[in-house]
Amino acid sequence: MTIEQAGLMLANPAAYTDEARLHEALALLRREAPVHLVAAPGYEPFYAVTRHADIMEVERDNALWLSEPRPVLTRGRSAQHGSGYRVRTLVNMDDPDHRVVRAIGADWFRPKAMRALQTRVQELASRFVDQLAGFGGECDFATQVAVHYPLYVIMSLLGLPESDFPLMLKLTKELFGSDDAENRRGGSDDERLAVLLDFLAYFQRLTAARRAEPTEDLASAIANATVDGKPLGDVETASYYVIVATAGHDTTSSTLAGGLHALLEHPGQLARLRADPALLPLAVEEMIRWVAPVKEFMRTASADTMLHGVPIARAESVLLSYPSANRDEEVFADPFAFDVGREPNRHLAFGFGAHYCLGAALARIELVALFGELLTRLDTIELAGQPEWTATTFVGGIKHLPIRYTLHPLRSNASPSPAQAL
Ligand code: HEM
Repeated sequence: MTIEQAGLMLANPAAYTDEARLHEALALLRREAPVHLVAAPGYEPFYAVTRHADIMEVERDNALWLSEPRPVLTRGRSAQHGSGYRVRTLVNMDDPDHRVVRAIGADWFRPKAMRALQTRVQELASRFVDQLAGFGGECDFATQVAVHYPLYVIMSLLGLPESDFPLMLKLTKELFGSDDAENRRGGSDDERLAVLLDFLAYFQRLTAARRAEPTEDLASAIANATVDGKPLGDVETASYYVIVATAGHDTTSSTLAGGLHALLEHPGQLARLRADPALLPLAVEEMIRWVAPVKEFMRTASADTMLHGVPIARAESVLLSYPSANRDEEVFADPFAFDVGREPNRHLAFGFGAHYCLGAALARIELVALFGELLTRLDTIELAGQPEWTATTFVGGIKHLPIRYTLHPLRSNASPSPAQAL
């Protein structure tokens, strides 16, 4: 494979369905061309940044490197994406707006507040593992468990009724999985716009309801937030819901499916974890490093600059490859080993700096709760078919994970708590 071919893979959704080959390409780029100009047909050119240290350098300087106008890789001219209509979420924003709008949700997502949610999350985790028992020993873990559980958590956080969960599931898949034929409603700008408008309509109704009758949930905090004494506008409010609902969903479900797959592929590590459940938080961190469900975010230079010796002009963009950072030989000992006891683990799966993932604490709680419950109840488990990966350059991972398993029978009158397992 040439450096050119390796670079082009970063703009090819299908390339992300073959992880071994993708990682071969990323390793080549890290070694030979860590800041590499990619001119892929149908895309504006961008520099692929593949080393951990360079990604941190870009993310650290959020005055030089802006999220606007090209926060993620899209086809064509990104500023015109979606027929000129754009939802403006946190990931699109730069300071001073970013700081103000982030602060609205930041209180909600602080680890302390998240710990308060733990009971609810553990209830849900135990419910989903109970469901496994009902599937009769074989299921597609990705579509039957991993996709639903994080959405239930977020919808509970927002305070939405369970009857709306299926609609949210459909819309988030259509919006986030839109490179993959299996998920998308359609590939055209108009069809993408239709999904966005459905989202907006739903959340505008929610805002109106929470303004009329405030409750204790995150939806109320967003609906009733003020900036400079004024409530957020319709698009800003809806955008906040959209970022929480979408950012917290496919990311966590991909990590669940990918994390379980990694355990199945590394039976020695699974046995080690089962023998020492206190390793679970480290194991979850390793799953997040290993899966890196967010494939990239982008930044655009606000002035002429240099990165790793490569001159980059004002208005040119860089693509930050998180899966690559997480296998960087300079940072991780034996980066291609899946090690449930890895410590330290300075992965960049949650990004870094001003945009560092707002939901990182919640994601960790969710993953620890589900794997804790699963490992306590699981007797045997094996792959029951070939896994399949999502075709996407943005967020994704394993979309089908057939498994065959046996569970311990439930103890009478109480479901075992993951906390007991730890
Ligand atoms: C394993 C699961 C997750 C991963 C790997 C992940 C990854 C990321 C990444 C890479 C970013 C961009 C960081 C940057 O630009 O430096 C991000 C931003 C964000 N994430 Fe997550 N995320 C996960 C789960 C969640 C959850 C559960 C939520 C909330 C329910 C969430 C909410 C957000 C929000 C609101 C942002 C935007 C922050 C900003 O731009 O200021 N994420 N996430």
